Amino acid sequence: MKSSVTIVVPTYNERDNIVPLVEKIAKNLSRYNYEILFVDDNSSDGTAEEISSLKSKYPVRVIVREGEKGLATAVVRGFESAESDLLVVMDADLQHPPEIVPRLLDALERGSDLAIASRYVLGGGCDDWSGIRKAISRGAIILADITLPKARKVKDPMSGFFALKRKVITGVKLEPVGYKILLEVLMMGKWREVTEVPFKFQLRQQGKSKLNLNQQYEYLRHLWGLSVRSGEFKRFIKFCLVGGSGVLVNTGLLWLFTEKAGLFYALSSVIAIETSIITNYLLNHLFTFKDRRVPGAKAFILKMAKFNLVSLGGLIINIGILSFFTEIFGLYYLLSNLIGIAGATLWNYFVNNWWTWQDSNPV
Ligand code: GDD
Ligand code: MN
Repeated sequence: MKSSVTIVVPTYNERDNIVPLVEKIAKNLSRYNYEILFVDDNSSDGTAEEISSLKSKYPVRVIVREGEKGLATAVVRGFESAESDLLVVMDADLQHPPEIVPRLLDALERGSDLAIASRYVLGGGCDDWSGIRKAISRGAIILADITLPKARKVKDPMSGFFALKRKVITGVKLEPVGYKILLEVLMMGKWREVTEVPFKFQLRQQGKSKLNLNQQYEYLRHLWGLSVRSGEFKRFIKFCLVGGSGVLVNTGLLWLFTEKAGLFYALSSVIAIETSIITNYLLNHLFTFKDRRVPGAKAFILKMAKFNLVSLGGLIINIGILSFFTEIFGLYYLLSNLIGIAGATLWNYFVNNWWTWQDSNPV
């Protein structure tokens, strides 16, 4: 027998899928000491009763939550009640093929902390999806990549099918809303190594998907919550504060060189801009991105060069927006400039976040 495994399956009105799912898992996990832990949100179709009727034949258990709903929180409830060191999460509707579970567990045994069944690595896919659903799925991933840089470490942070070692979430407060439990684990969990195993998302055999517009809204709420809890929002505020200090440095030096050193103001401005870029870089290095510092002078200089390049782009964006709103819409130029500064700040933040200080070492 291999190590003990708990397979957490959230269910809501999935009665007709229970027997085929349990049978398939049993066939694929005979080498393991496993338990299937269903977390059911008081389904009205007899899902929990169906599960209970299998107790004498299969290692199944069901928790029925009353007055609570939601896929991701149901999974968290399952984690809390599971006793194994290895945890698997999968849907009940057979869209996640049980044949993949041993491959996820193999990856954990080879040293990964987290193994994701992924639609977006070579060999994976969701062939039966409409163009619209594919686009929504991709869009959701891009949004996560932008707001939560750590999500970029994997190709399919939205998968609902994955396995993890318990230690990844030990002592971690998981507070997901909506569907995306994996995103919560990726952002808040303590993992070093992650593997993605390709899988093809299957057609639903029985019952209906519970995904609706409300889930899209909850997804946005979840992204916001994760930005705050993971510290990414704070990082953005720090970046803006540093930017504000740069404006002071810039204005001060422009005045100093022009008034006190007698330089032509455009020349003073060049010196003032470059100096404020460097002070911004230093402050971001020491403050905003201190958790992503890489040792060595070479990395320091390289990042400074990148930061300079990004700032140059920001300058062009600022001037571009300023002239666009002033010339095309006849907006008062100081107002256009504020919009320009906002645009440049976003550009600077995201490009520096993704590129200059890219998050190369998780944990
Ligand atoms: N306990 C509980 N409570 N379970 C729920 C709830 C709920 O409120 N809503 C859905 N579930 C269960 C379903 O019964 C099913 O077992 C599983 O969660 C997935 O629900 P579906 O409604 O079938 O989701 P989907 O197929 O549209 O989306 C799945 O695939 C996406 C793409 O991979 C989910 O796994 C998503 O998390 C995933 O992003
Ligand atoms: Mn489904």
